[in-house]
Formats: sequence, structure tokens, C-alpha cells
Amino acid sequence: MAKLGLNVDHIATVRQARGGNEPDPVTAAALGELAGAEGITIHLREDRRHIQDRDLDILRRTVKTRLNLEMAATQEMVRIALRIKPEQVTLVPEKRQELTTEGGLDVIINAKQIADTVKRLKDGGIIVSLFVDPNQEQIKAANKTGTDYIEIHTGAYAEAQLWDDRKRELDNIDTAIKLARKVGLGVNAGHGLNYVNVKALAALGGIEEYNIGHSIIARAMLVGLERAVRDMVELIKYA
Ligand code: PXP
Repeated sequence: MAKLGLNVDHIATVRQARGGNEPDPVTAAALGELAGAEGITIHLREDRRHIQDRDLDILRRTVKTRLNLEMAATQEMVRIALRIKPEQVTLVPEKRQELTTEGGLDVIINAKQIADTVKRLKDGGIIVSLFVDPNQEQIKAANKTGTDYIEIHTGAYAEAQLWDDRKRELDNIDTAIKLARKVGLGVNAGHGLNYVNVKALAALGGIEEYNIGHSIIARAMLVGLERAVRDMVELIKYA
């Protein structure tokens, strides 16, 4: 059955707005796990705009499910990952100016750098996932790097307004899932998923883990984190 990886970056975004120590993403992660999240995801960005090194250190010691660290394939981040040893690293592209991760990795152009990074992380005992668009050439290139998983970037699907566009994006994702599984890759998905658009995606089958942040934290502000997490777990598991 599919799992929810709860992304707690936006708890840290609220904390950083005042530069203090609350709300604490460590507390949110613990509450999320109690409510049924089977993984905790954080993105340690180069500019440390939300998650801080302190969060990663503490979460490594307190997360009881699985810690998934999203990061850029830089020397600094690889050093940090090899010291902290999260269960999984998801490699993502990163631009300083972006509001959030804008697209998948270009695994074709950056094949060597990504393959080297995958190897270093895997040699350190860490499961690796590559964040890619639902594009067949990218998935074939991802497979050549030795990665264990891909995380399909669901942003285009989530942003599609018209039914035809949404259906096309969903078909792209379906094709991507099938190709990835055929070549032996595990499949995760994330970005822009919410309580409405996750249903059709979950009905496709084949996705092991959904990494979802913004919609859950937004709902949690109104109904509480426990209920927000439970509602999403239910949609993912019983689609
Ligand atoms: N997966 C990846 C690789 C991401 O970069 C993000 C955004 O940090 C997410 C999932 C979660 O996206 P959202 O906050 O839109 O649910």
C-alpha cells in the first residue's frame, strides 16, 4: 500500500518568518508520524531558507519511520548526507531565486555528475531517488545512473487547469510509472499534490510514496495537523 511522506518544510517557513524557534518542524514530524505518515521529508536548501542544519540533526535522531532528505547534488550536501545518513536522499535541482522546486533534474545533461553522486550516496548505505519529470528519456537516463527510485514531478499535472491538459499529464505520469517499474526502478511522486488531485493519481497504482507538504500544512492551519495527515493518508491508501 502506498505511503505518505510528510514534508515539514513549511512549518520551518513559518518559524523562519520570525527567526525564532516555533513552530518546530521536529514536533510536526512527530505528530505527523503519530497520525499515520510513514516518512518525513525535508529539503535542506543551500540558502537554508526554511529547514536548518539543526532540524536535520535532531530529526535524524527522532524520526521513527524514514527520513527522506531532499537536496541538490553538491559536494556540501553529499558530505552532510554521508554524515547524517538519512534512509533516503532525493536529489533535486535547486535555484536560489525559485519559490519552490520548479522542474525535475536534467539527468541527460548532468548524467556523469548525478551518477557519481548516486554512487557516493549508495556506497554510504543511503537509498537514492531522483526527482524527474514524467519524461521517458529522463527516466531511461535516471535508470543508467544506478538510482534506486525516481520521484515523478507531479507539478505539471497539479497545475493543469483544463480537463484535457490534466488528462494528458495524468497519462504522461501513468506511462512514466510503467516504464520506471519495467526497468526496475521504484516510483515515488510529489509536488503540488492536494486533497483533490491526489485521488486520480492514487487510482493509477504503482506509486510507493507520495511526498506532500504544502497542502497538508495549509489544511493543518485550519483543522490541525493530525486530522490533515489522517485525511491524506486515507486518500492515498484507499483510492
Ligand atoms: N517532492 C519534491 C522533490 C519537492 O521538491 C517538493 C517541494 O519541496 C515536494 C515533493 C512537496 O511539494 P508540495 O509542498 O507542493 O507538496
